[in-house]
Amino acid sequence: MNLMIILIIIFSPLIAFSNYVGNEHCKMCHPQQYENFTKFSRMSRSFLGVEKMKNKITQEELKGCYECHTTGYGKKGGFVSVEKTPHLKNTGCEVCHGPGKKHVQTKKREDIKGKLTTKICEPCHTEERIKAFRFRPLLRGVH
Ligand code: HEC
Ligand code: HEC
Ligand code: HEC
Ligand code: HEC
Repeated sequence: MNLMIILIIIFSPLIAFSNYVGNEHCKMCHPQQYENFTKFSRMSRSFLGVEKMKNKITQEELKGCYECHTTGYGKKGGFVSVEKTPHLKNTGCEVCHGPGKKHVQTKKREDIKGKLTTKICEPCHTEERIKAFRFRPLLRGVH
């Protein structure tokens, strides 16, 4: 058996459990949303703010930032660390549209969240933060 096949067999359970795939996987079929989001939305670079604070706060405090500044932290197949899951270190498409693994394979509407409400934004854009930043995000604000 060649090495590639052995590697695939060893790692396939890991791949199978990763429900979050990262923005790069959406690019091919949704170039326009990808382009707009990557160019114009600060959400696509949200980890920068965390990186800037890295040396000023404790590891524990840093983990407190992940739930809002990364994709899927604490959820199955979501962000774990910069080393292990670099493709999920910013808030990406799947923060709003949900884990994309199945949809990427099937290309079906039913396998991704398409109709969204502001409920999706609330865990991160809390009332407290809306006040602090004097800014309430509009539903169609990012692409
Ligand atoms: C409850 C979710 C949440 C948590 C926890 C959180 N953030 Fe944020 N952060 C946001 C949101 C949302 C914004 C965008 C502004 C807004 O709407 O409040 C933001 C904005 C920022 C910005 C950009 C400010 C600017 O004007 O450029 C920085 C930097 C930042 N956060 C750093 C951090 C760090 C460091 C931590 C951890 C100590 C952290 N945040 C924890 C949700 C969060
Ligand atoms: C901050 C939340 C958010 C993020 C992040 C986000 N989207 Fe969306 N997306 C929306 C909303 C809201 C709609 C409109 C839903 C509706 O019409 O009910 C939408 C609609 C779409 C649609 C349907 C066609 C359209 O444009 O209406 C596609 C495809 C899509 N998004 C792909 C992406 C891709 C790819 C990314 C990442 C590059 C992404 N989205 C990131 C919120 C988001
Ligand atoms: C291999 C191509 C392909 C990839 C990769 C892909 N999509 Fe799609 N996506 C489609 C197709 C095709 C549709 C339209 C389905 C239809 O009209 O029935 C669609 C529709 C959507 C919709 C609209 C759903 C609705 O209810 O209207 C959203 C949102 C979306 N995709 C997000 C994403 C995100 C996020 C990713 C990356 C995680 C992604 N897509 C990756 C092909 C793809
Ligand atoms: C998992 C957490 C999370 C969710 C869910 C989320 N956001 Fe954000 N959002 C952030 C963070 C973090 C920032 C700050 C990025 C920065 O400045 O570093 C941000 C910034 C923004 C901004 C301003 C920056 C920009 O140019 O994009 C808009 C607009 C925004 N979010 C819209 C939305 C909307 C609309 C929803 C719901 C449909 C939503 N967000 C859901 C975390 C989230």
